[in-house]
Amino acid sequence: MKSNQPIGIFDSGIGGLTVARAVKKVLPNESLIYFGDTAHLPYGDKSTAAIQAYSVRIAEMLLKNKCKVILIACNSASSAAYDLVTEYVGKRAKVFDVINPTVDFIRENHSNEKIGLIGTKQTVTGGVYAKKIDQLKQDIEFTSLATPLLVPMIEEGIYDDEISKSIIAKYLNDSNLDGIKSLILGCTHYPIIKNQIADYYHQLNKSVRIIDSAETVALALKSFLEYNQLVNKGGHPSDQFFVSDFTHSFEKTTKIFFNNEVNLTQLPIWDELN
Ligand code: DGL
Repeated sequence: MKSNQPIGIFDSGIGGLTVARAVKKVLPNESLIYFGDTAHLPYGDKSTAAIQAYSVRIAEMLLKNKCKVILIACNSASSAAYDLVTEYVGKRAKVFDVINPTVDFIRENHSNEKIGLIGTKQTVTGGVYAKKIDQLKQDIEFTSLATPLLVPMIEEGIYDDEISKSIIAKYLNDSNLDGIKSLILGCTHYPIIKNQIADYYHQLNKSVRIIDSAETVALALKSFLEYNQLVNKGGHPSDQFFVSDFTHSFEKTTKIFFNNEVNLTQLPIWDELN
């Protein structure tokens, strides 16, 4: 691995751009190759076997593009395919997911409390967070809730108004989440509604810390690159954004997730399989 190689980031779609944005913020000199598998969106409702097959194929493409790091910027894919992708990639690149850095963060900062998770059906029913938090052997009470309406809501641009406020309140009011002290945003779309979630608890005078896995993983990646002297010191970083199925609506929606609208290029990696 060399410091001037790019960082590969993938997600089921464009939600992972919140992770790319967090990475760019702490590592502005890195070149990013982003791949959104919009042809197979959403991963949250797919089988584990299907997500594994997609993820390995995308990792192969990112390796061909000489990425030093492959960051799985999707909780559903992290939950279903992290172990398999890590095995497949081997020593050719470092694989990061969004779950392990979050669990490390909890170990260091949030022991002995009740922690909640919201995420897609795949992330919640897959039970990976529950298993890994249990393995910490700390006095943590863990609870989770699938919140499947939030992804389509955000993608429709409904994330800062009365409608989103009531949908968020409906979910957060679920008795499963009663008494939590921290809430993990277990989906890469959710940093977009972080302020609204904070407002919900604020208005009820409840102190609930929000754990943003996009920020946590970006900081873990920065530490890894620094420790291994892999931070890009050269100039002129360039970012590329690919999707497996292009629509103008996806391109327009990138603005929500990356602050700026980015040019998406269609990379039909599934055709090569036929
Ligand atoms: N970005 C995905 C995640 O973090 C959610 C979208 C999907 O279901 O594909 O789980």
